[in-house]
Amino acid sequence: MWRAVVAEQRYVRSDSVTRSARFYRKMFRRSWTADQVVLVADEGDRMIGQLVASREESPINKHVASIGMAVAADRRNRGVGSALMAEALRWGRAVGVEKLALSVYPDNDAARALYRKFGFVEEGRLSGHSKKAIGYRDEIVMACWLIDLPSGVSAGPSRPG
Ligand SMILES: CC(C)(COP(=O)(O)OP(=O)(O)OC[C@H]1O[C@@H](n2cnc3c(N)ncnc32)[C@H](O)[C@@H]1OP(=O)(O)O)[C@@H](O)C(=O)NCCC(=O)NCCS
Repeated sequence: MWRAVVAEQRYVRSDSVTRSARFYRKMFRRSWTADQVVLVADEGDRMIGQLVASREESPINKHVASIGMAVAADRRNRGVGSALMAEALRWGRAVGVEKLALSVYPDNDAARALYRKFGFVEEGRLSGHSKKAIGYRDEIVMACWLIDLPSGVSAGPSRPG
């Protein structure tokens, strides 16, 4: 499934799949820890969606977890992505993550709509941050706070003045 999504080229950062099936099997075995959740949507023995959320490693960023997700092309727009995201939020709250973050390409309307639906707001735009086989791409940074906004922190991009 992941190979097919990567082959679409325009949605995810990866340009190729370098990890082995063994790597993923091992990752799926430790699917829910305080530092990471690995969620899989399946249909019988077919994997149709996945989401990985991992806490940042540095102690000063550990309250933040970053998300990557994908649904098989022929199973999109049926609520699979929403179900995965709802479970990721449940994980985040259960393990004390304060903020979920991700980046998305500007023309990925379906993903941006899904993230907005779950309360993610756009924090900024990284210019040419991805250098993919198809060319440079900007990244939109989005985030969702799971706690009340700490004092002095703004929810969206800071504006001059
Ligand atoms: C993003 C992705 C994971 C969403 O998964 P999904 O199973 O299709 O998600 P859902 O069906 O739960 O929700 C999709 C939402 O996007 C909306 N949507 C779909 N196409 C859209 C478009 N072109 N413009 C605006 N909204 C759109 C749907 O209406 C739906 O919203 P709703 O629940 O309010 O009706 C899936 O499109 C995907 O795997 N894309 C390729 C990989 C990818 O982009 N990964 C994320 C990288 S940041």
